[in-house]
Amino acid sequence: MKVLVACEESGTVREAFRKLGHDAWSCDLVASRDASPYHYMQDVLEVLSLGWDLLIAHPPCTYLSNSGARWLHDTRYPNRMGDREKAVDFFMKLRNASVDKIAIENPVGHLSTAYRKPDQVVQPWMFGDDASKGTCLWLKNLPLLVPTNIISPTKIVTSKGKSFDKWWYETCKLPLKERAKVRSKTFQGIADAMAEQWGGKVE
Ligand SMILES: C[S@@+](CC[C@H](N)C(=O)[O-])C[C@H]1O[C@@H](n2cnc3c(N)ncnc32)[C@H](O)[C@@H]1O
Repeated sequence: MKVLVACEESGTVREAFRKLGHDAWSCDLVASRDASPYHYMQDVLEVLSLGWDLLIAHPPCTYLSNSGARWLHDTRYPNRMGDREKAVDFFMKLRNASVDKIAIENPVGHLSTAYRKPDQVVQPWMFGDDASKGTCLWLKNLPLLVPTNIISPTKIVTSKGKSFDKWWYETCKLPLKERAKVRSKTFQGIADAMAEQWGGKVE
């Protein structure tokens, strides 16, 4: 299958599909973290029409997630509403791409009302990764992902009695930019499940 992984700089989903023999490519405005030759460094809207069988997209959630909503009415960021509408518009361009199979992921947030409720919400811990991060999936012509290895995420309880996922707590120590990058990387278990269940091994 010809697979385009949109808005991916880590190469995680691209490589999961390539390992199974698919002609998978990633695309992001920035360079690929693994310096792969199978990466378009450009606006994904420019490569959407290159004849893909499957599009998997991870559009930015800065203006769409529930966690970002608290900034919407902050006067220090006057155009936050406009930015959110642009983010919805970008999501819809991906959703309406002329590709047979499409999966778009984003955290729980504004898209559930601006577009519709997701087909599925998955968690890394359903696919063997020690972390909680509710991830919505909007699907076209694809089955729901079936959990592959359900585990219990490790918790850290602070001296004040607050409970956090170990994964989340540990990333808090990172500088802001690096933290965002680490937290937005697709988890390996979810990437592998996408490749196995939506692609399968090419014989
Ligand atoms: C939330 S991050 C997703 C990271 C992804 N899960 C990964 O493992 O690499 C969103 C990404 O979208 C990219 N992006 C934003 N606008 C884009 C566009 N028009 N075309 C391609 N990539 C874009 C950003 O550079 C960023 O890397």
